[in-house]
Amino acid sequence: MKKDIIGIFGGTFNPPHLTHTALAKEFVKQIKPKKLLIFPCFMPPHKAMANGSATPEDRLEMARLAFGGIEEAEVSDFELKREESSYTYLTVEHLKTLYKDEELCLLMGYDNLFIFEKWRRFEYLLQNCRLVVADRGEGNDSKLNAQVERLEKLYSAKITVLKTEKNAVSSSKIREALENGNEKDIPIDRKVLEYIKNRGLYGTGKEYDLEAVSAALSHQSPKRRTHTEGTKEASLAIAENHFPHLSKTRVATAALLHDLTKELSFEEQLDLCSHYGIPLDDLEKRTGKLLHAKTGAYRARELFDVDDGIFNAIMYHTTGKADMSPLEKILFLADFIEPNRKDELCVSIRNAYQDFLAENKDTALDRTLLLATEKSVNALTEESKEVHPHTIEARNFYLRSNADEGISCGSRREETC
Ligand SMILES: [Fe+2]
Ligand SMILES: [Fe+2]
Repeated sequence: MKKDIIGIFGGTFNPPHLTHTALAKEFVKQIKPKKLLIFPCFMPPHKAMANGSATPEDRLEMARLAFGGIEEAEVSDFELKREESSYTYLTVEHLKTLYKDEELCLLMGYDNLFIFEKWRRFEYLLQNCRLVVADRGEGNDSKLNAQVERLEKLYSAKITVLKTEKNAVSSSKIREALENGNEKDIPIDRKVLEYIKNRGLYGTGKEYDLEAVSAALSHQSPKRRTHTEGTKEASLAIAENHFPHLSKTRVATAALLHDLTKELSFEEQLDLCSHYGIPLDDLEKRTGKLLHAKTGAYRARELFDVDDGIFNAIMYHTTGKADMSPLEKILFLADFIEPNRKDELCVSIRNAYQDFLAENKDTALDRTLLLATEKSVNALTEESKEVHPHTIEARNFYLRSNADEGISCGSRREETC
């Protein structure tokens, strides 16, 4: 007699989105389980939770809202309650005591099948569960088929491929869109979105008191204050050009606070680093100039409880980094091109940005980021100074991403490449 099926679907659900629910629905439709158990994990075993993640309690609640419309689905707090890395075999061991006569089916995304042998006690899982893996909605997939065959042959694995719709949504992209206030067409259940906004998760709903922020800058010298105001104006203009959904108050707050600790001495910077427990690399220990970005971020968080988006924008405003968020891009560039900066490097980047904007607004920002990081690397190298790895990574990232977009070295780029 065919056994009843118990489905197991684990994840961070940070937040749960429509691809998760579509996958659960397909599982129910094609596999016909008696029950599909959803396990928000406390902490994934192979990677850290992203900055700005929702708490386990919020993720549990969001999962309940997201999967609430699927009759067979039941959200469990089993993994959250254990408060440690969530190894699936422990969950399966627990379920084996509850479901002695049923077949356990482990639902997983496409990529997981290729790293499955890295899972803790994966052979135990294969002996006790059928794997149900989502395809990528692309029909016959030779890479997937080969991996299925390999695992079946090596371990006598029982694997079913679940036909799904093509979809490339990721929770990290959703978090970024939420943080940027870009809620339109976001592939997330309306009830989950409402919960996120009510709870102010992922940087939503937070308001900053710009007067209080400005008041905290009273110690700045007139020159620094002028630069700070200029950076604010430039940040707002860049945001208006490329990210009009972004909260203006957040953009202004990040800009006003970006050089909060810039005028402290090297010794004072080091004291703040030890006060906040900020890890420093060798270059930062030797170069006082880079420290204010880190101490500024921590101080801004202590004084104004800034969200992670603002924290990171301040943290990386001097070095930049690969794959910057919208707010990180804005602040990094505004610091270069604010109108009070008159040195040759800044003037050339400011002019290039205007030229790129006139040519194509959509590509102007990333083209300018490439130019700015490239010119920074070149200028430091010409002066025989060390370049921070984050700046080199940023330059390489925007070199690749501009190339992927089919953007060749533009008119201004010819000066530098
Ligand atoms: Fe700075
Ligand atoms: Fe600055």
